[in-house]
Amino acid sequence: MSDRYLNFANTPAGRRLVGALGLPSPLPLERWVAGRNRPLEGALLIGGDGDLGASVAAFANRLTDEYFAERDDQYGLPRWTAEHGPKLKGLVFDASGLSRFEELDALRQFFQPALKNLGRCPHVVVLGRAPQTLDDPQASSVQRALEGFTRSLGKEIRRGGTVQLVYVDPGAEPQLEGALRFLLSPKSAYVSGQVLRLQPCAQQVSDWTRPLAGKTALVTGASRGIGAAIAETLARDGAEVVLLDVPQAKDALDALASRLGGRSLALDICAEEAPGKLVEALAEGVDIVVHNAGITRDKTLAKMSEGLWESVIDVNLRAPQQLTAALLQAGALRDNGRVVLIASLSGIAGNVGQTNYATSKAGLIGLAQSWAPTLAERGISINAVAPGFIETGMTAAIPFTIREAGRRMNAMNQGGLPQDVAEAVAWFAQPGSGAVSGQVLRVCGQSLLGA
Ligand SMILES: NC(=O)c1ccc[n+]([C@@H]2O[C@H](COP(=O)([O-])OP(=O)(O)OC[C@H]3O[C@@H](n4cnc5c(N)ncnc54)[C@H](O)[C@@H]3O)[C@@H](O)[C@H]2O)c1
Repeated sequence: MSDRYLNFANTPAGRRLVGALGLPSPLPLERWVAGRNRPLEGALLIGGDGDLGASVAAFANRLTDEYFAERDDQYGLPRWTAEHGPKLKGLVFDASGLSRFEELDALRQFFQPALKNLGRCPHVVVLGRAPQTLDDPQASSVQRALEGFTRSLGKEIRRGGTVQLVYVDPGAEPQLEGALRFLLSPKSAYVSGQVLRLQPCAQQVSDWTRPLAGKTALVTGASRGIGAAIAETLARDGAEVVLLDVPQAKDALDALASRLGGRSLALDICAEEAPGKLVEALAEGVDIVVHNAGITRDKTLAKMSEGLWESVIDVNLRAPQQLTAALLQAGALRDNGRVVLIASLSGIAGNVGQTNYATSKAGLIGLAQSWAPTLAERGISINAVAPGFIETGMTAAIPFTIREAGRRMNAMNQGGLPQDVAEAVAWFAQPGSGAVSGQVLRVCGQSLLGA
């Protein structure tokens, strides 16, 4: 569904009116287009004082053609200055070396000149060390403080910009490139204010133009909306896709599967025979499993029937758990597999009329967290992606005023697109993304709702 307000606010007359009335002024976000090569088109500035900046500088030439350091003789890169440097499209600040409260001012010193020289839709990443891994209380507190900084900067940056914090464990440096290829590029256009932790991972992407080559991916609920975008994006990245949806959606499913050169599987994930049929269909093995199928049956709890409650728990929570368990038990989910659960901001922040839905989606986050340690023994990762307001048939059905509020209540003053969720899933699906497991990534434009 198109966002008419965003289109209007970006016309000359709209800009004047929106400015005069102090209304939200959303910018059209830059998104990844097929055929693009470089994650960043524009200048990248790397700064800070830890061990990680040098790792980033070592592959900066694969991210963009223009890269600079904060100081002379830093990382062997030219120095960027506000007076002579180009506008900045990407910023990476290595805060991993900060351990005293007085050192936090390095953030202000680095970002202040840079913020006045940003291009459109800039991407910022702050790197640190996970606070729980540090013994010194002050050092741990300083690293935790980065969360407040990045989340606030995400709300201040405007211009369609994004800001993330990535904690990098010792040994996880080789996975920084995959993370930054996502977080510094338009693939993360609608991801902001997020905190992720990278841990060592033995797998690595061998061809960045087709990071999922040789992998088989199952996507449930793939005939339309977010699921269809996920299937398209995984196929774009080289995966062979198996598209699953209810038998009623067979025509749309078959059409998309044939366009993507994949297979279709018409199956209700709640049917008694679903686990057996899925295992049979994936007898040769599967590497990537995306549990995207989901439904809403909204009613306040006072009016919620048992049927409405159960149907949502069945589709959104019980089926993903049972199907994953069946694939694991049958040995169909291969070693180093990637499981992605599509949760929701409702499962984090709660929502009126959605006790059933929010319960199911919070339960999915619980599944990712509880399954991650066991699955790690086989190199399998499991994560949740929590979309905020995404422009799909599901959100088009929301009454106008509630829809408009949902759309604007985020740092970008607009809804996301199915592609935004799909790009996050595609990153989690990569071999090197085993570095992230048991975590939740929100694709919500840094919504004001939830933590
Ligand atoms: N649209 C949003 O803003 C938004 C926000 C947060 C989370 N989500 C989640 O993202 C996912 C996709 O949402 P969407 O907006 O594309 O919804 P959608 O309704 O357009 O698509 C959901 C798909 O799941 C399929 N499905 C439903 N029940 C099924 C079953 N029993 N067996 C097999 N397939 C089944 C449907 O046929 C449909 O194709 C859902 O899990 C949803 O909860 C969406």
